[in-house]
Amino acid sequence: MTAAAVPSDIKSLGKDAQLGYSEFQFGGFKFRRDEYFAHVAWPKGTRIIEIDRFLRALVRDIGWQFFYGWIFFDDVFGTQNHYGSVDIFAGSYDGGYKAAGTDFMETFPTDKVVTAFDTIARDWISEGYDPLRAPQETGTPLGSKRAPRKDALVRGFTPAKRMLGLPGDVTPRSDETGHPVNRAFADLKFEQPEVHAEKGFEGQLNAINLFDHIARSDVTWNPSVASITGASIFCVTSEEHMLPVIHGNDRNEWFIQLSDEIHWQIQDKNTGNPRGRIVMKAGDVCAMPADIRHQGFAPKRSMLLVAENGTPGLDELYAKGKLPPYPLDF
Ligand SMILES: [Fe+2]
Repeated sequence: MTAAAVPSDIKSLGKDAQLGYSEFQFGGFKFRRDEYFAHVAWPKGTRIIEIDRFLRALVRDIGWQFFYGWIFFDDVFGTQNHYGSVDIFAGSYDGGYKAAGTDFMETFPTDKVVTAFDTIARDWISEGYDPLRAPQETGTPLGSKRAPRKDALVRGFTPAKRMLGLPGDVTPRSDETGHPVNRAFADLKFEQPEVHAEKGFEGQLNAINLFDHIARSDVTWNPSVASITGASIFCVTSEEHMLPVIHGNDRNEWFIQLSDEIHWQIQDKNTGNPRGRIVMKAGDVCAMPADIRHQGFAPKRSMLLVAENGTPGLDELYAKGKLPPYPLDF
């Protein structure tokens, strides 16, 4: 395995004359796509991944800034965030690849990986396909290259300038701003809270119906609202179809199911062996341990609150065994 510095700028290896897509090299990895699949190659092996799955993982990995811990695009290929640098790995957390000695890993500065993944995404994603939307709500990524997308591939996070709903809020979601309630939440009633400000505080106090806000999100498995207080991070999202990545935790992560249900498949982080299945229904709370990888499946669009502890160095305490991988002893 290579952890030393590697050539860290992505380069094009040429364009497929028939399909129109470019092939790329980044460090020891090569990336190529055809009409149906992404092909990833490294010095000792190759992997084939459905193109939809690959692109849905790719844009979220960029948008999430590699998130906490591991992002598996499939069971074998993915990234690990070291908060300043990023590993790209193939087979490093798979029992079979490890045993065969065909695993491979390289470490890059974070900004180089962002540039590389963004370059691939822009070349491989055509107009009419949005990997951040639920599969039923966007076009197809299959086939040869069409016109490139002109809008932002990755919805950047828009920081609220004011409490949601107050004058000056830059993130309103309403019919007027082109954010209709998603079809999956058409049966919900959204009562608006009454706000009675003391004299002198008019225009400074507000409350919103959070369900109404989430119901209008046009993306899935991508945070719609995040609140950050110190190192405590709350993310609410709407989730439909499957989490496009398998997330490997480097710390505990709390889930509060706000509506409908999500089925979670949980594996050992290092080997991929099955650890368990959880079906979370509205109101259920669970803590994902720090030593697992997990993937969620939402048969119907649902609402989920994810609580993360962003304390710097927490990942090392878990990695060194100074904290147990679960949050509570009963
Ligand atoms: Fe997770």
